Amino acid sequence: MRIEIICPDDWHLHPRDGEALKSVLPHSARQFARAMVMPNLKPPVTTTDAAAAYRERILAAVPLGVAFEPLMTLYLTDETPRDEIRRAHESGFVHAVKLYPAGVTTHSDAGVTAIDRCEPALSEMEKLGMPLLIHGEVNDPAVDVFDRESVFIETVLQPLLARHPELRVVLEHITTKEAVDFIASSRESLAATITAHHLLYNRNAIFAGGLRPHRYCLPVLKRETHRVALLDAAASGNPKFMLGTDSAPHARRMKEADCGCAGCYTAHAAIEFYAEAFESVGALDRLEAFSSFSGPDFYRLPRNTEKIVLEKNDWTVPQTFSFGENELLVPLRAGEVLHWKRI
Ligand code: DOR
Ligand code: ZN
Repeated sequence: MRIEIICPDDWHLHPRDGEALKSVLPHSARQFARAMVMPNLKPPVTTTDAAAAYRERILAAVPLGVAFEPLMTLYLTDETPRDEIRRAHESGFVHAVKLYPAGVTTHSDAGVTAIDRCEPALSEMEKLGMPLLIHGEVNDPAVDVFDRESVFIETVLQPLLARHPELRVVLEHITTKEAVDFIASSRESLAATITAHHLLYNRNAIFAGGLRPHRYCLPVLKRETHRVALLDAAASGNPKFMLGTDSAPHARRMKEADCGCAGCYTAHAAIEFYAEAFESVGALDRLEAFSSFSGPDFYRLPRNTEKIVLEKNDWTVPQTFSFGENELLVPLRAGEVLHWKRI
């Protein structure tokens, strides 16, 4: 069995930098025509100049003969000036601004401490139509880790949308039924990305037979009812839901550690993982809309025209990939057999 779809884009990617970038970027470039590049480097990508330089480093890591366009984002801080938003917008290569509540995830310590501090930047974005991409979790140790997304929607996102009625927003890597319902029932200018791992796994996967650090990401996997709601949303044909892998590589020793980093690496088989998820609910015919149409339509970019072919053909995921010069990376489903293969 084979299916043909318009080439997909990845609307949420962490390709990293330096030697690590050279190891992982080819996986994404082989599958996707474009990717929205997250700015949580060390130091973060807070200016248009930094985004231009990062973009060049990404382009230099694209394998010869492969066409791949990095879509850049800026990292929002309490101090992001209005002018920087204007410069970013004029650049033509910065497509959005990413909000990390300070301390909520990997390299978010320079993030936003209180959203009110970002009013100048947010009102400029609203005016220019530049989307705000949100890591939607509160960083309050008193809030249960499994509730941090739904509490964020109520206490931060709803008031933010009310204050900025024209602001275009993407709630990134949604993980709950509450998020699905909120997106589906609110304004057109609010959309969401969904990862493959949140479509394939519930939180039991983190503890299956022992602690599984390579399935730990943020927002953390939730219970089965939420996974089912996400899969329903992705396969519904509703254009507010789009593909975003959140593929987030970390060196093996940083994951298999006393205090392991958050992030699942899925770029090596991203479209195959999504195909598996859609097939599980008999919705392969909806895969193309989710992976190749919703994103460009929301971002007002042209849809891709090339096609890719996926074939039912067993293959085994490698146990590891190299990650920079001296590190290894453990991909999702390491050593396991996948049934779909992009050819
Ligand atoms: O699991 C995650 N990893 N979630 C994030 O929000 C950040 C990402 C990373 O950069 O490692
Ligand atoms: Zn991310």
